[in-house]
Amino acid sequence: MFTDIGNRIVKKLGRVPSIPEELKLKRDIVSKGASESYQSKGHEQILSSNRLERRERSLGGALGGSCLTKLKDDGYGVFKPYDRYEVQERKRFIQTERAAYLTDLLLGFDLVPPTVVRTLPNQNTFVNQVGSMQQFIENSRVGAELSHEERQAIDKDEVMKLELFDFMIQNSDRHMGNYLVKDGKIYAIDHGSCLGSEINPLKEDADIRECILSDNDPHSRSHLIVFGEFYERKIPDTTVAKLKAFAASEKEQIVYLRLMSELIEERYAAPYLDRILCIIHAINDSGMVDRKMYRENIEKEVTRYQTLENHLNEAASLEKAA
Ligand SMILES: Nc1ncnc2c1ncn2[C@@H]1O[C@H](COP(=O)(O)OP(=O)(O)OP(=O)(O)O)[C@@H](O)[C@H]1O
Ligand SMILES: [Mg+2]
Repeated sequence: MFTDIGNRIVKKLGRVPSIPEELKLKRDIVSKGASESYQSKGHEQILSSNRLERRERSLGGALGGSCLTKLKDDGYGVFKPYDRYEVQERKRFIQTERAAYLTDLLLGFDLVPPTVVRTLPNQNTFVNQVGSMQQFIENSRVGAELSHEERQAIDKDEVMKLELFDFMIQNSDRHMGNYLVKDGKIYAIDHGSCLGSEINPLKEDADIRECILSDNDPHSRSHLIVFGEFYERKIPDTTVAKLKAFAASEKEQIVYLRLMSELIEERYAAPYLDRILCIIHAINDSGMVDRKMYRENIEKEVTRYQTLENHLNEAASLEKAA
C-alpha cells in the first residue's frame, strides 16, 4: 500500500505529517525519480504534435463537443473541448479524460485509446481552444449500435476489465454510447465523469460504487453489460499480474503520482493512488475483489486521511491563535 512511503515519511518526521507536508514530500520524491521514467511516445506524440489538417465532422454525443479531426500524416483524432461548459468544469473534464488514459496505461488495462490535452484554433473564431485529443478508433461501433446478442458475445474478460477499471476511476457514465467495440476488443471512451469531485475521493466511494455496481440498480442495468455480481467475478490472470506488479513497484506509483499531479490537484492525486492500491490489495488468491477486505482497506485510508485533516485543522487554529 502507499502507506509504505507514508510510513517512511512518518519515520523521517517522527510524527504524522500534515497533508501539505506529506504531499510536499511526495512531490519531492516524485520529481527526483520519475521524470525520466515516463516519456510520451508513439500515438501520444502524434496526437500532441501533428498538424491539424481539418476538422471533419461533429461526432454527436451529449455535451463534450466531440469532433473528428484529421491530423497530418497519421490518421484521425477525436478533439473534445467541452465548450458548452463553464471554464472550471471544462478544465476538469478535459483533465480527467487524460487522467483516465494515464491510469489505464500505468495499470496496464489497455482499454483507453491514447489521449492527450491539446490546444487548437477554433475554426470559427480562430481563438485557441483547449480540449482532449484521443486516437480515433476507425471502424468501431459503440455498444448501443450492437445487437443484444452481439453485446452478450463480447469477451467476458474484456467486460470484467472494463468494470474493474470503472470501479477504480469511479466512473459513473459507462453507458452504451461510452464504449466502442472492434474485432471483439473493447475501447473505453468518454471519461469526463470520473475521479470523483470531493477533496477526499475515498469518502464518497461506498455510496457511488454501491449504486453503480449493484445488479439490482435499474440505472446500471441499462448502462453496463452486467453478467453477475461484480465481487463474485474473476479478474483475468494477466490483469491481476499487472495490477500486483504495479502495487509492488514504488517507482511505478511515483510515476503515476507525478503524472496525475500535473493534471489534478495534488490533494486528489494521492488519495486516488491509495484508492487504487486498496482495490489491488483486496484481490484475493481466486482473482476476485474481496468486498470485505476492500471495505476494510478503504476504511483504514479514510481514517488516515481524516487524522491528517484533523492535524491540519488543529495546526491552522493554533497558528491563528498565536
Ligand atoms: N476515440 C474514439 N474513436 C471512435 N469514435 C469515438 C471516439 N471517441 C468518441 N467517439 C464517438 O463520438 C461519440 C461522442 O463521444 P463522447 O462520448 O466522448 O462525447 P459526449 O457523449 O459528447 O461526451 P459527454 O457525454 O461527456 O458530453 C461517441 O459516442 C462515439 O460514437
Ligand atoms: Mg459520451
